[in-house]
Order: sequence, then structure tokens, then C-alpha cells
Amino acid sequence: MPPPAPGTLHDFCAAADLGEGEVLSRLIAGVAVAVARQGGRLSAFGALCPHQQADLSDGLLDPGGITCSWHLWRFDLATGECEMAPGASIPLFAAREQGGRVLVEVPADAARPSSGGAASGETASSESVNGDAAGGSPAEMRPSGERPADGGPSCEGR
Ligand code: FES
Repeated sequence: MPPPAPGTLHDFCAAADLGEGEVLSRLIAGVAVAVARQGGRLSAFGALCPHQQADLSDGLLDPGGITCSWHLWRFDLATGECEMAPGASIPLFAAREQGGRVLVEVPADAARPSSGGAASGETASSESVNGDAAGGSPAEMRPSGERPADGGPSCEGR
């Protein structure tokens, strides 16, 4: 998979808010983005599972991958590919730590046309799903954090 396309740098969270082995998600310029820290490295990726849009930050992080909490699809964080459903993948984004902040580069074509944003190389602020400003507590991508009422299909039912 090619490296993430260049885009606008966005403030994601305070570096101290993303501990080792943790993953957080936020709405960045209209794009659901998750960032994980493991082995001292940051991995940024699309936060919504392509299966049924579960928040992947609720999933299980392992060395090199994350498994969705709803139906256990696992995604390789080096490629974005899903091992359980060939052809399904999540987008990857560039991320880095700078000045005590975690910054994520979201490609322009990944953002909503109306989201505006700073010119490349500048840092734009992030927004949470519930409208809080960046820098507060991590936003939940789903207010309830729960599965659909029917629990969704099982892995066997995909
Ligand atoms: S919603 Fe992620 S595996 Fe079903």
C-alpha cells in the first residue's frame, strides 16, 4: 500500500493523553480518525470499521494490528488491510508527536468539502463528535459505544 497522501496537519490530542498501548478516536475535519501508540510508535487510521462502522478505538490493539470489538475483523496497521474480509481496508494517515501534541495529517480528499482547514504544513484544530474543542477528554465516536440492537451479524455471517 502506498504511503498516506500529504494533507493538512491537525491537532489530535495532547501527547500525554495517548499512553502506550492506547488508542483514541476523534472527528478531524469531518473524518473519523483513530491514533494508537504501541512500541513507542504512533499509528493513525480511519476510526470506523468498514464492516458496520464500529469505532475501532473500542477494539483490541495488538502488535501491528487492531481487532474490531463488534465482529472481530482484524486490520493490519501497516497496510490497513483486513485479514478476515479480503478487499476491506481502513485508510492510514501520517501522525507524529510535536511540542507535546499528537498531530495527524489528513489528506484533503478525505475531508468534507465544507470543512475548510489550514494550508498544508499548518496545524488546524480538531473537533470531537460532540462538539468539544480539542485538548479535552478523548471523544467517543459513538455516544453509546454500544453495538446495534441486533448485535449485527457474526463473523460467519459476513
Ligand atoms: S463492525 Fe467491525 S467487524 Fe463488524
